[in-house]
Amino acid sequence: MEAEIDRILIRDHDIARRVAAMADEIAAAYPSDAGELTLVPILSGSIIFVADLMRRLPRRMRLAMVSISTYPGRSTRPTEARTTLELRTDLEGRDVLIVDDILDTGGTLARVRAMVRERGARSVRAAVLLRKPGKAPPGVDAEFVGFDIADEFVVGYGLDYDDLYRNYPHIGVLRPEVMR
Ligand code: IMP
Ligand code: MG
Repeated sequence: MEAEIDRILIRDHDIARRVAAMADEIAAAYPSDAGELTLVPILSGSIIFVADLMRRLPRRMRLAMVSISTYPGRSTRPTEARTTLELRTDLEGRDVLIVDDILDTGGTLARVRAMVRERGARSVRAAVLLRKPGKAPPGVDAEFVGFDIADEFVVGYGLDYDDLYRNYPHIGVLRPEVMR
């Protein structure tokens, strides 16, 4: 796995430090007496991020997973978003925090936000570990952002290429010859 990584962009301990700070920012935005929070992680890319984030978030919370894919198979270019698992839980009156690995063109987040609103959430905010600035249209953004990165394809810490490299502990850029 290591041999296929061209360079490390963000090291595991820097990710851990930033995730801890994000948890503090999120905790401050949701007062502890405000009731339950519902985390909506977007599968599969957010699994490691949400696992680390939620353990640092001392709030009474529930989880409602949603799965959306914009990069089918080996493609590194987004195609039309496909919902592969519907958000089932009733979100009526709930404070929802959508959690995703990366905000790229914003299609995924816009879609999930709409789904969550349709289900009657009282408030909807989003936390993403990474953001590629300037790619999403105005009006599509996340309230909590870990790192802004350049527009290149990254893997690791949950992010995949062809469903691989999710377990790589750092955020890295693949060697170009791997992405064929
Ligand atoms: P968007 O809908 O274009 O914002 O894309 C967001 C989704 O695309 C994320 O949830 C990721 O799963 C995937 N994605 C976008 N950029 C990358 C990348 O650089 N590496 C891996 N996955 C990515
Ligand atoms: Mg994803």
